[in-house]
Amino acid sequence: MTHDEQLKAVKDFSYQKMSGDATGHNFDHIQRVVKTAKKILVTEAADPLITLSAAYLHDVADDKLVSDPAELEKEIRDFLKDNQFSNTQIEEIIFITHNLSFSKSLGSNPPKLSLAGQIVQDSDRLDAIGAIGITRAIYYGGANSDTIYDPKILPREKMNKKEYRNLNNETIINHFYEKLLKLTDMMNTSSAKKIAQSRNQYMLGFLAEFKAEWDAKK
Ligand code: ADP
Ligand code: NI
Repeated sequence: MTHDEQLKAVKDFSYQKMSGDATGHNFDHIQRVVKTAKKILVTEAADPLITLSAAYLHDVADDKLVSDPAELEKEIRDFLKDNQFSNTQIEEIIFITHNLSFSKSLGSNPPKLSLAGQIVQDSDRLDAIGAIGITRAIYYGGANSDTIYDPKILPREKMNKKEYRNLNNETIINHFYEKLLKLTDMMNTSSAKKIAQSRNQYMLGFLAEFKAEWDAKK
């Protein structure tokens, strides 16, 4: 198989696994992440087959989406083997999909991703900010019946632990402070950081407008 044929097989596999998802993780998200990864690959010397395969597969075995991530991970390994990926390539792709998440990056010992992994992580994070990010946050919050905004709810680090634990829901606006506004500084590659900065400005403008309207100041 040529690399193009391998990648086409990965794309079809991802489509089959992701197209039914309605939590903002559907195949449109995957295609945007792949497109962004391709753009970053123009200036970063990572292996395109590994990078783009990991981009296609990064949410397939997400424990938020499937009840048995280990089973899906096995399915992914078998699938890659059947499509002539080497064991080394399979291990790298699985490692990336396993270690991409925001929560893993916040831990005391964050996983060290290869350049391919860093590009997929940047691309996934770019899709969580800017106009798309705003839309996804509202879509997610709506699906989860979250409150839109409550000025008393602040990010975790700005509340005392007990107060925070007693909160029974997150608000959509607070999610920007908990996560989305932090992503720009966490970008790995310089091209992603540049894109992130402009998307971050857009979110800050949105939040300022939102609060002004909330307080009837505008
Ligand atoms: P991914 O794994 O692709 O980075 P997540 O599963 O963390 O994304 O979330 C999917 C989308 O929903 C993201 O755009 C994220 O910002 C948004 N989201 C996640 N949790 C919340 C929340 N509590 N409130 C609002 N939006 C959220
Ligand atoms: Ni994702």
